[in-house]
Amino acid sequence: IITLSRKDMKILVTGGLGFIGSHTAVALQQKGYEVVIVDDLSNSSIEVLDGITQITGIKPAFEQLDLRNESSVKNLFNSHKDITGVIHFAASKAVGESVENPLLYYENNINSLVYLLKELTKHNCKLIFSSSCTVYGQADEMPISEAAPIKKAESPYGNTKQIGEEIITDVCKAYPDFKATLLRYFNPIGAHESGLIGELPIGVPQNLVPFITQTAIGKREQLSIFGGDYPTQDGTCIRDYIHVVDLAEAHVVALEQLFDTSYTTSLSIYNLGTGAGNSVLEVVKTFEEVSGVDLPYAIVERRTGDVIQAYADTTKASKQLGWKSRFTLAQALESAWKWEQKLAD
Ligand code: NAD
Ligand code: WQD
Repeated sequence: IITLSRKDMKILVTGGLGFIGSHTAVALQQKGYEVVIVDDLSNSSIEVLDGITQITGIKPAFEQLDLRNESSVKNLFNSHKDITGVIHFAASKAVGESVENPLLYYENNINSLVYLLKELTKHNCKLIFSSSCTVYGQADEMPISEAAPIKKAESPYGNTKQIGEEIITDVCKAYPDFKATLLRYFNPIGAHESGLIGELPIGVPQNLVPFITQTAIGKREQLSIFGGDYPTQDGTCIRDYIHVVDLAEAHVVALEQLFDTSYTTSLSIYNLGTGAGNSVLEVVKTFEEVSGVDLPYAIVERRTGDVIQAYADTTKASKQLGWKSRFTLAQALESAWKWEQKLAD
């Protein structure tokens, strides 16, 4: 058996200029992998490529293309015949927008995946797929293990993640040599310590942490906390906030597991979280501590579709991948704040 050396391992990172993809491209390059990024810039900016290059000293190959175009996907694999693995981040991810425009979500998140899988099975490439804790809905037990039942999706976005997982499961059954890993992220936050890459929400942020940092910098008047009467210790919802750099490192480890010639499992599933749950008010308080900013906020009506609490059982990732998150909530919030201040400069 010939084991490929890392420098021969060319990894395609779809959506590699996005939030999680850019941090993962950095982590891959820092481990010696050769990275090819594909992005259509629908939710990112070309400057992110410079950020990745500055951090790592290596400019990854980049192709601006839309994965919804099947012939572009085919051409991509024809021009990079030596791609051995794909980390598929590219997707549309705004829950509210998916309710208003479900077909955009089904077309982007499902068609792109199908076109990629057609090539992956042809070229015998490994796949890592970005899934989400949203597949568990409101789980009955905390922390949430990978064995928890999948609940009916609350939104077309959530449904695309469930359908994506099912498509990959079917493909693994049909192609015995094909190997894939589904990573179910909890709530990714934070930014690279360099302040050179981070989250770039377009328009009004839907997620908590970018809304907090934009409020602290003065871009937004105040944070609305959605619901103060949930059955939790302080009445606000509980989530598992994981530093994006921790998440990025987990992708490298998961890829290494797939490349390990002694690893024979065709489909693996891992939760990626810290294992700790924090309420919205705890996040606000921790942010105030690390930034020294008094955050203006008001408790308002609940947001439709929010679950009360979700945090990960991280035993499986820890045992089978040897991966655990390193950063605390305070460190993650500090990095997000540093990034917001850098953006303001
Ligand atoms: P992001 O929007 O920052 O990154 C996605 C990237 O994909 C963007 O740069 C976008 O331009 C690109 N893209 C979208 N459609 C494309 C297409 N058709 N062709 C080429 N490029 C395309 O999102 P993110 O937060 O980095 O999320 C990455 C993945 O993780 C997504 O699949 C998302 O659903 C999943 N996920 C994200 C979270 C989260 O809270 N951020 C949580 C769970 C799962
Ligand atoms: C976190 C908490 C809000 C904004 C979403 C997707 C999920 C996944 C991650 C992709 C909740 C509260 C938020 C605000 C608030 N994405 N909040 N005021 O909802 O856990 O998950 O992103 O897969 O699928 O649904 O993350 O950051 O939106 O919210 O009070 O302005 O903050 O109610 O309790 P969520 P979030």
